[in-house]
Amino acid sequence: MAEPRPFVWEYVPQPIPREAFRVTGGTALHGTVTVAGAKNAALKLLAAAVLTGERCRLTNVPEIEDVRAMSDTLRDIGVVVDHPQPNTYEISAGDVDWLFVPLEAAAKMRSSFMLLGPLLTRFGEVIISNPCGDRIGRRPVDLHVDAMRALGADITYRYGYYYAKAPGRLRGATVTFPFVSVMGTENAMLAATLADGHTVIHPAAQEPEVDDLIDFLNKMGADVQRTSPDTIEVEGRKRLRGADHRVVPDRIEAGTFAIAAAMTGGRVTLESARCDHLDALVQVLGSMGVVVDCGRDTLTVDATEVGPGQYRPTAIETAPYPGLATDLQPPTSVLLTQASGRSTIHEAIFEDRLEWMIELRKMGAAIELPDAHHAIVDGPTSLAGADVEISDLRAGASLILAALAASGTSTIHGGHHVRRGYENIEAKFLDLGANIERVQEEDSVTPP
Ligand code: UD1
Repeated sequence: MAEPRPFVWEYVPQPIPREAFRVTGGTALHGTVTVAGAKNAALKLLAAAVLTGERCRLTNVPEIEDVRAMSDTLRDIGVVVDHPQPNTYEISAGDVDWLFVPLEAAAKMRSSFMLLGPLLTRFGEVIISNPCGDRIGRRPVDLHVDAMRALGADITYRYGYYYAKAPGRLRGATVTFPFVSVMGTENAMLAATLADGHTVIHPAAQEPEVDDLIDFLNKMGADVQRTSPDTIEVEGRKRLRGADHRVVPDRIEAGTFAIAAAMTGGRVTLESARCDHLDALVQVLGSMGVVVDCGRDTLTVDATEVGPGQYRPTAIETAPYPGLATDLQPPTSVLLTQASGRSTIHEAIFEDRLEWMIELRKMGAAIELPDAHHAIVDGPTSLAGADVEISDLRAGASLILAALAASGTSTIHGGHHVRRGYENIEAKFLDLGANIERVQEEDSVTPP
């Protein structure tokens, strides 16, 4: 059994070893990749496991930094999190010593806020750090807080912390969001599972990871139903039990590798890929002329006949699921540099999710950024290796894709951000024939 880590009262930023990826491009990727479990499901499943004192067992959990950070956060508050073998986590939240989620957790990961709903509904109170502020724009949590208030919670905000109390039990209610929020939906849903009465959440996020969480909750004895595509209804229960669950495959990782094949003119088959979760991306690839073959649990991209430089330009716009995922916007944008003509990008979900393109320009991409939500890409471009810096995980993976297609060698500084969400990314690329290595940088960074 893993020893709980000492509790951190004060936030002392820990230096993170700084890494870079060194990539020599120009090799077409060929082979098969097995897609890992979804980060955006695993983190919420770990949070959901604190809804019961019984043991929960999660398999196909990706071995990534964010999962480690969530596990450490759970251990800090007294939850036993075992990791008996790779990709398997066992969580027992029989005793929770501290109903306090510190700034240390929030600084590492916005998803630490996913502990608000489950801790509040099970224990009746929690003090939780505000995770606001992220490298991809202002990312408030007002919708989460309003949802808890709708369920009867009393929440005050002081010195960067939310002090949340649920006098008696939370009460079932109608939770109406002004627009769709993935984690807002999930937090409301987790809170409602142990509330007194019936909850309706609308509009509810439709991401496959939300449905994976619903499956797990129902295995735990909850009563959660998606009664229409954008409505989730929950009948509160007095208690939940332990359950086993296998994490759904990561559609963002699958999409990233699919685009890597298209970028390099290779042929890659993704195993454990849910094509049905990738409809919007498959449509974009199809409109560009990229050959995609969807199987039952596989997806193959074959760019050996029609390849980089020959794709058709297109207009993409991100949207909540089933639209094109904002997390797939950066890799798709990289691919647009290989289309012959002018493409446009509308990033509709987040502010500042296009800033990384300034780095892509250093590799020769012809990109205009008229405002924070729009970009124009003129192609095709022969990308050339460069020294680039990344500050978020999806941008990081995307610059690796650009480097794989570029002539010469690129160094992608800030590569440790990629570890937050991609399991063994360089090993997977090496297996496909890429020339990539992870290197330690001399200096180190401290998280914000
Ligand atoms: C989740 C995903 C993230 C993905 C995003 C959108 C996880 C761990 N992360 O993030 O990878 O990019 O969905 O698909 O699952 N907003 C508010 N107030 C709130 C909450 C959100 O204004 O309280 C805004 C956000 O700033 C954004 C929009 O709502 O503009 C949608 O964000 P949301 O769906 O909540 O994203 P996350 O759940 O944080």
